[in-house]
Amino acid sequence: MPAAESLPAELARIIGAKNVLTAPEKTRAYTEELRGRHRSECLAVALPANAEEVSAVVSCCARAGAGIVPQGGNTGTMGGAVARRGQVILNLRRMNRVLGVDEANHSMHVQAGCVLADIQEAARARGRLFPLSLGAQGSCQIGGNLATNAGGVNVLHYGNARDLALGLEVVLADGRVWSGLSALRKDNTGYDLKNLFIGSEGTLGVITAAVLKLFPALQSESVALAGLRAPEAALELLGRLRAATADRLVTFELMGGIAVHSVLRHFSGARAPLAAQHEWYALLKAGSAAPGPALRERVEACLARALQDDVLQDAVIAENETQARELLRLREQVVEAQRFEGGSIKHDVSVPVSSVPEFLRRAERAVAAAMPGARPYPYGHMGDGNMHFNISQPPDMEAKAFLSQWDAMNRVVHEVAHQLGGSFSAEHGIGISKLGEMRRYKDPVSLALYRQIKRALDPGNLFNPGKLLPVEEGGGGRAANAPPGASATRGAKPASR
Ligand code: FAD
Ligand code: MLT
Ligand code: ZN
Repeated sequence: MPAAESLPAELARIIGAKNVLTAPEKTRAYTEELRGRHRSECLAVALPANAEEVSAVVSCCARAGAGIVPQGGNTGTMGGAVARRGQVILNLRRMNRVLGVDEANHSMHVQAGCVLADIQEAARARGRLFPLSLGAQGSCQIGGNLATNAGGVNVLHYGNARDLALGLEVVLADGRVWSGLSALRKDNTGYDLKNLFIGSEGTLGVITAAVLKLFPALQSESVALAGLRAPEAALELLGRLRAATADRLVTFELMGGIAVHSVLRHFSGARAPLAAQHEWYALLKAGSAAPGPALRERVEACLARALQDDVLQDAVIAENETQARELLRLREQVVEAQRFEGGSIKHDVSVPVSSVPEFLRRAERAVAAAMPGARPYPYGHMGDGNMHFNISQPPDMEAKAFLSQWDAMNRVVHEVAHQLGGSFSAEHGIGISKLGEMRRYKDPVSLALYRQIKRALDPGNLFNPGKLLPVEEGGGGRAANAPPGASATRGAKPASR
């Protein structure tokens, strides 16, 4: 039995010494996450080359009693890919091949370590579309996207990662490889196992490959930005556009003025697309597999009518691909631009689409009451009812003092979403960051079923111990999936921004 100390050497024997990293300068990219909220203290980073090697690594770690943290592009925001001392990070970046495209079946077989942007490109090269699209697409991996059931800007029309997977291959805790790599669109032969692993954040198994759904490539696209007075107007516009485009609306993102104006102030390449400033902005994209001007004409007519009816105050439609890219980039940049506003406390809530305006009004009031001077910085996927109702610090407050209120402010915003039948985590998952909210808001029956599933698939609590599932009440302080002696949030440090 390999002891924990000799585990790196044991792993090196299985997958090659150069694929087992232990030196801090080599492990940094895997142990530090983008936003600096958490830092890993792992025993080693293992970089296997295929499912068989993943299986061997899993079995070896199991024998040594070392927890495994599956990791993709390390772009997750909830600390799900963060390791504790004595654990092994199993990163899939070497498993980055597209294994095949079946054009007639509109499907693609990929290894789990494929970077999302590379998958999009491989689909494009075959006249197909893989529609999952998010700001981190240049570095996140499809395995991570599936493990977090990622959303992004095209969910309105194509659904989230769960809706885009036909089949999966997963390495289980006992080392077996479950080959569920079906390319079928219909198969009612038993439980849908793939959907257990999708969204499980690495707690049930290591996703090693997937069969993804493709769509016909878009032949005509229309991207526009509208300036609005209020979220109610955005809701009205959303309904009108869905009808006008015969439901070919792919993207509908709402951004507060504070967010758009911050991009325009701080990013040198950014140009104001509209003549005046507005309280709110809606970025939209319609797309069709049919070529020709018809779609654009419909969008244009719809926006012109909305202007006449005082639903919107101004709008611009991209004339070409470059302008379309600029408008889409504006939405991407609002995420980073928030750091120019000082410390930020982030949210990822969803409510029914029809309740988004009510949510925004109530959340704004609740935040003002809880912390006078705090500035809501809202943006997000309004078409899916998913808003990142972030908060920027009061200008006269120390960032550190503001950030110390992270949990309290989260609670204020999550309560509002909850009252409206919403979720405290619409797309980024639980990781270690939202364990408290999981305990508070998830119903006990769901939590009990989750724990039963965890115990059935991972009885030794090998995969991502301490993530997703909160410590069991009355369970002697031990999480259902925590390693002996571990506290659920160990390793976390205060946000740097
Ligand atoms: P990681 O961060 O490496 O891991 C995330 C979780 O998945 C961890 O729990 C990990 O253990 C598990 N995991 C990773 N790979 C595997 C695997 N092969 N098998 C089993 N478990 C695995 N998210 C959205 O949903 N929508 C957005 O619009 C969005 N925009 C973003 C924009 C930016 C700028 C950034 C930095 C992040 C954004 N995210 C968004 C969050 C993040 O990109 C997604 O959660 C993404 O899906 C994570 O993929 P990853 O490969 O980086 O996973
Ligand atoms: C986005 O929609 O841009 C992201 O989900 C926000 C984030 O990464 O915080
Ligand atoms: Zn998002």
